[in-house]
Amino acid sequence: MSEAGEETIPGEVFVICGERDIARGQAKAFDLAESDGSGGSKPFRIVIARNDQGAFHAYRNACPHQGVWLNIGSGKFLDETGALLQCGRHGAKFAIETGTCLSGACEGAQLEKVRVLVLDGDVCIHGVALVEEDFAPRHDDDLEDTMEITIHP
Ligand code: FES
Repeated sequence: MSEAGEETIPGEVFVICGERDIARGQAKAFDLAESDGSGGSKPFRIVIARNDQGAFHAYRNACPHQGVWLNIGSGKFLDETGALLQCGRHGAKFAIETGTCLSGACEGAQLEKVRVLVLDGDVCIHGVALVEEDFAPRHDDDLEDTMEITIHP
């Protein structure tokens, strides 16, 4: 996790969910939207994972091997141990804390990190220009966890 105080926080901070909404050893998908730089928006799909120590880590939900969302198929993000992120297509495994692929088809590759921090019990991201937009989910897994985004004061 990018701990609060570890770095200065550039730009807007967006509340994604409550700290309690993701238990230790769990991960959830959030389908958001970001600015496309020309007045429009484009999908911004992320996964927020919480490790056994309770730290939060966020990544774009895209496998570096073929670009599919990590929870494709089963809807799950974590492997059977609950200690690693896993791609549902070919099984590549990633360290929750770094996003580095430790084994599989893209070993050594990196998930794209999203800056995350916890403020007053809220899990927030920053460093991205989120916009309010409703994109239809493109996968049929558990997406009820998509939250309304608010800008943290
Ligand atoms: S698409 Fe993720 S391991 Fe192949």
